[in-house]
Amino acid sequence: MSPVKMSLEANKEYHFCTCGKSATTVLCDGSHKGSGLAPKTFFVPESKEYYLCACKKSANAPFCDGSHAK
Ligand code: FES
Repeated sequence: MSPVKMSLEANKEYHFCTCGKSATTVLCDGSHKGSGLAPKTFFVPESKEYYLCACKKSANAPFCDGSHAK
């Protein structure tokens, strides 16, 4: 699954989906409830576009590290 390109704002709190059930794939929408999993809170240092991991294999989550292509 290819990464999702998103425009993120510096110092804003985001919640990366770790359960894979979110309708947006990469950001938590609350679908994890009851799964025992929780989202990963993260911030970005500058406002720009980022590639977020959608395959859940990145070692650098929430950011894509190319693992989806391996
Ligand atoms: S929906 Fe996946 S962690 Fe919240």
